[in-house]
Amino acid sequence: MEIKQLLTFDDVLLVPIVSSISSRKDTDMSSNLTEKIRLSIPIISANMDTVTEATMAITMARLGGVGVVHRFNTIEAEADEIRKVKREQNVIIDKPYSISPDYTLKQLKELAEEKSVTGFPVVNNNKLVGIITKRDFQFETDDNKKVSELMTKDVISAKVGISTEEAKKILNKNRIEKLPLIDKFNNLTAMITSKDIVIAESYSSASKDKNGRLIVGGAVGIGQDYEMRTKAIIDAGADFVVVDVANGYLEKTAEVVKSIKKKFGTDVIAGNVATKEGVINLKKAGADCVKIGIGPGGACLTRPVAGVGYPQLSAILECANNGINIIADGGIIKSADLSKAIAAGADIVMIGGMFAGTDESPGSIVTKAGTNYKFYRGMASINAFADKSSKLNEDSHLEGYTPEGTETLVPYKGSVTKIVNNLIGGLRSAMTYLNSRNLSDLRKKAKFVRLTEAGKKESKYT
Ligand code: XMP
Repeated sequence: MEIKQLLTFDDVLLVPIVSSISSRKDTDMSSNLTEKIRLSIPIISANMDTVTEATMAITMARLGGVGVVHRFNTIEAEADEIRKVKREQNVIIDKPYSISPDYTLKQLKELAEEKSVTGFPVVNNNKLVGIITKRDFQFETDDNKKVSELMTKDVISAKVGISTEEAKKILNKNRIEKLPLIDKFNNLTAMITSKDIVIAESYSSASKDKNGRLIVGGAVGIGQDYEMRTKAIIDAGADFVVVDVANGYLEKTAEVVKSIKKKFGTDVIAGNVATKEGVINLKKAGADCVKIGIGPGGACLTRPVAGVGYPQLSAILECANNGINIIADGGIIKSADLSKAIAAGADIVMIGGMFAGTDESPGSIVTKAGTNYKFYRGMASINAFADKSSKLNEDSHLEGYTPEGTETLVPYKGSVTKIVNNLIGGLRSAMTYLNSRNLSDLRKKAKFVRLTEAGKKESKYT
């Protein structure tokens, strides 16, 4: 049997060439996730329960990437996270949360907390009758007072269909924060807030859908509930679905991709595989993009447990250029890995561990001996499996489960924005060395050299 020797990121370096690009600013980072979805930066956050829920997905989309909400939760909970992303930075909020004039102040405060909003239009049978914001009740001490007694009755509204520029003028002239939009029968249909306008305008390269809402993806598995889950997350506004299977070679993976494409027509990303055969199989099933990576991830135990895997740089080289977009998933621990993954042919990289332990990742901070940490765990770890089973009321049979993921505390890192900016800075630097104004240029011009052990040491890789 012939045994190939394959390589990963630290085995190689990119070779510099004569370059006319003197400034990193002259580089374009945009790349396609699928044929339809183009991102300003080639980075997405992993569908893991210690990495991506709404908060991470919102920040990633604002930075020009995207987040994939994990599936290790109930269908409703996953759909809720997606809804939160779609409502954020939405200059026009369709069907805004509203409140009845009969609510007490106590009920209003509870609802405001639950929905994370600061005020509501007040409606009677969906007819706009007032507005209540923090200003109206912040010094009120009687929690039993009715909204009708506290609200502003001469509410300033506008007709649905108003442009953002017109809305800005009204908000500014009247010194108000929220502008309910009504139809000709005075039914509340939408709302514009000044906060959302300011935020939308400050993230010029954010990933947005055609209605100006942030882009987000949701993961589904190949178990019985995949169809219900797909429907729920698409109804919630997911822009694409990730069919998330550790072993994307399972025939069932291709069947599920085929069925989702047929029933929902949405963009589908499928994985994980690591060879050309795996990519072609999922491409034939109708996938719009394939996720590459068997075992390179920081929390992965597949290689030590099953003895199966494929070194990630070689996997990317083999899987690229097969007529379908690919995501390099796992093993990115420094900006150099991102540059090499893209140069080797990845359209996008997916990141888990580097984004864990941030303000935007789910979970709370744990303090040990004066240092702050957050949890990061593989989705095939024992606790991820146990938590999923209990949330979904499934039989867990923990004693028969061989985990293929680890669970660790990672140091608390602050905002993910800083990490993304550092990654992008490294990629831009690589592009100036390789005379590449954009990522397809980089892919064309990239040449790798292999390192000896001494070369790795010299590169600070060991
Ligand atoms: P990084 O290196 O960015 O990798 O943390 C994230 C990717 O790791 C994969 N993943 C796992 N692989 N067992 C595995 O073998 C696991 O428990 C596990 N959890 C996540 C996944 O592809 C993710 O995007």
